[in-house]
Amino acid sequence: MLDRAVDYIKTRVQDFKPEIGIILGSGLGELADEYCTIAIPYSEIPGFEASTVSGHKGQLVFAEINGKRVVMMQGRFHFYEGHSIQKVVFPVKVMKKLGVETLIVTNAAGGVNPEFKPSDLMIITDHINYMGVNPLIGKNDDTMGDRFPDMSEVYTTKYIELAKTIAGELGIDLQQGVYMALTGPSYETPAEVRMARVIGADAVGMSTVPEAVVASWAGMKVIGLSCICNSAAGVSTVGLSHADVIDAANKAKTKFKALVKEVIKRI
Ligand code: HPA
Repeated sequence: MLDRAVDYIKTRVQDFKPEIGIILGSGLGELADEYCTIAIPYSEIPGFEASTVSGHKGQLVFAEINGKRVVMMQGRFHFYEGHSIQKVVFPVKVMKKLGVETLIVTNAAGGVNPEFKPSDLMIITDHINYMGVNPLIGKNDDTMGDRFPDMSEVYTTKYIELAKTIAGELGIDLQQGVYMALTGPSYETPAEVRMARVIGADAVGMSTVPEAVVASWAGMKVIGLSCICNSAAGVSTVGLSHADVIDAANKAKTKFKALVKEVIKRI
């Protein structure tokens, strides 16, 4: 199936060989609209599923941004949609086979660190997989990565530093921290958020970790960026809604796009 997807995409994009992959999270998909050269709906790609969450389109977008060849996922597959974890990470394997060397993974997340405010951006320094599932379970494809891959530097240190430098230059207040993934789709309870804080999380969300694990396994450099869309349950007294999450992502998207574009230019 992987080869079929890759072959199909190659017939559509011909000799365009992307070097950077970007997974665009909730409310952050505009970058793809701005640069879109070729868009392939997921429904046309063998092995891809249709995305079901509002605020997510469902297409692979190819474009040149700041001199780099980029493939963007406008909309991702979440585990909570009922997709198998293999389906969630399938596009990352496709990207690897297309030649992508660096993956920029973005998401909307809840702030667990009490210093974080809605619409802050956070560079992910590490993650906690609390989804109860690992996307590498099953037969290992030794041509892509090791059976027991090292996860001691999933998020490439020099790119974390680069993002911080760029944020400083652009006057963007960039937070940093550990992203913890849970399956969702229910948001966390206040007790779960307290647990997340105790075990070392700064933000919680429902994505990113499966994709980052597979990208790292396959030897890709990974950059993770969260838009802190709300204070996680119990961190503030305000209740949580998907509409508020999208609203906060919209407020952050100008600085988000500026940061991502500059990172693309300099990696
Ligand atoms: N929790 C989990 N996922 C999220 C949140 C949250 O508070 N906000 C946006 N995505």
